[in-house]
Amino acid sequence: MNILVIHGPNLNLLGRREPNFYGSVSLEDLNRQILDLAKELGINAEIIQSNSEGEIVDAIQSKDYSLLIINPAAYTHTSVAIRDAIAAVGKPAIEVHISNIYKREEFRKKSFISEVATGQISGLGIEGYLLALRAAQKILLK
Ligand code: DQA
Repeated sequence: MNILVIHGPNLNLLGRREPNFYGSVSLEDLNRQILDLAKELGINAEIIQSNSEGEIVDAIQSKDYSLLIINPAAYTHTSVAIRDAIAAVGKPAIEVHISNIYKREEFRKKSFISEVATGQISGLGIEGYLLALRAAQKILLK
């Protein structure tokens, strides 16, 4: 089971960036938690973070994985290119948001990604990634 986890723009600042929305755990610590749980579940996980839309599209197209877990961050609300890349590869994708995007500014309520995602987790903090991993295992075992 190969899973690709993509963190979008500004998530490199996790732990220091607006902790009221995103909490105080750093990206490094979050990635450690993801890799620890992946190991426990018998999943191979590769994790990348990028601030660049093109790099995210390239990763979705070219990495070797059977399911994608993606927090597209701000690109959630703007990127037809990331949406189309997910649709093009046709692999299951779980969209994760640390904050509840429906409880914030109006512009965050629109996700270009949710239409092509298998499911979405929003507002459960970094726990959302761990829940996504557990869901991924079930989806891939089906
Ligand atoms: C986010 C929510 C987005 O609206 C925002 O632009 C982010 C992070 C989240 O994880 O809650 O950068 O995707």
